[in-house]
Amino acid sequence: MPNRQDSMFADTAAMYDAKANEYAEAARRELRELTLQPALIKHLGNLSGKRVLDIGCATGNSSRLALSCGAQEVVGIDFSEKEIVTAREIDKGRSIKYFVRNAADDLSDLGKFDFVTAILSVHYCTERAMLEKMFRNVQKVRKPNGKFLAVVVPFSSYDGYGVKISSPTGQEGEPSNVSLSDFQGKKFLDFDDIYWSEKTYQEVLKKIGFSVEWLPCIVSGEGIQKYGEGFWQKFLDDPIYKIFLAK
Ligand SMILES: C[S@@+](CC[C@H](N)C(=O)[O-])C[C@H]1O[C@@H](n2cnc3c(N)ncnc32)[C@H](O)[C@@H]1O
Repeated sequence: MPNRQDSMFADTAAMYDAKANEYAEAARRELRELTLQPALIKHLGNLSGKRVLDIGCATGNSSRLALSCGAQEVVGIDFSEKEIVTAREIDKGRSIKYFVRNAADDLSDLGKFDFVTAILSVHYCTERAMLEKMFRNVQKVRKPNGKFLAVVVPFSSYDGYGVKISSPTGQEGEPSNVSLSDFQGKKFLDFDDIYWSEKTYQEVLKKIGFSVEWLPCIVSGEGIQKYGEGFWQKFLDDPIYKIFLAK
């Protein structure tokens, strides 16, 4: 009989299989382009000559970003087959290889990486032990000075900038629903994931031997010009995107 972790993973993969096209659209939405995108470009830095593993790549948005930062080769993995099929179509001819894989399974056959990214993809683990398993896999595949950069969503109720999170229990480790729309209220997508606090991520990473630094989210010049500084204050005080760099 499948255990709770396996069935939750199967549910998540099925959810992304069913919503691959909607997700591709949501990933291009304004909040992300004006905030997360410039923050990632800044924090990834110059990836020239680097080998990058992108965990939970979906249709390849984050993998293409690593490539545009100069990476020599990007390997994108996702357990949604449909997302991987679409990513392969989009990136035909580019130096990105896509594989259907679960990041909680051993990844050592993929080789060693200078940088591992997990952009909005680790908060589907239903158990703390599962987070630990994924992070241990990252430890195994990173080169001696390799870095791990992830974006996670905080354990809080958030309502603004086109993101609405509702949690039936409000408990850490329990499912919550996320609803994404644009700033005008046009809805893109609804999905469920699991919320873990920054403290939990940090404790698990430290237990495995990572040192952890939390990095700021930013708003692009275009975002400030378009909406004004005041508009972004609440977002910058408590950004929905929490970014950690583990080494
Ligand atoms: C919110 S999307 C993020 C996609 C992409 N990184 C981006 O920046 O747009 C999360 C993706 O993580 C994938 N995912 C979640 N848990 C995973 C796991 N254990 N192994 C592989 N993929 C996983 C899901 O299938 C989904 O495509």
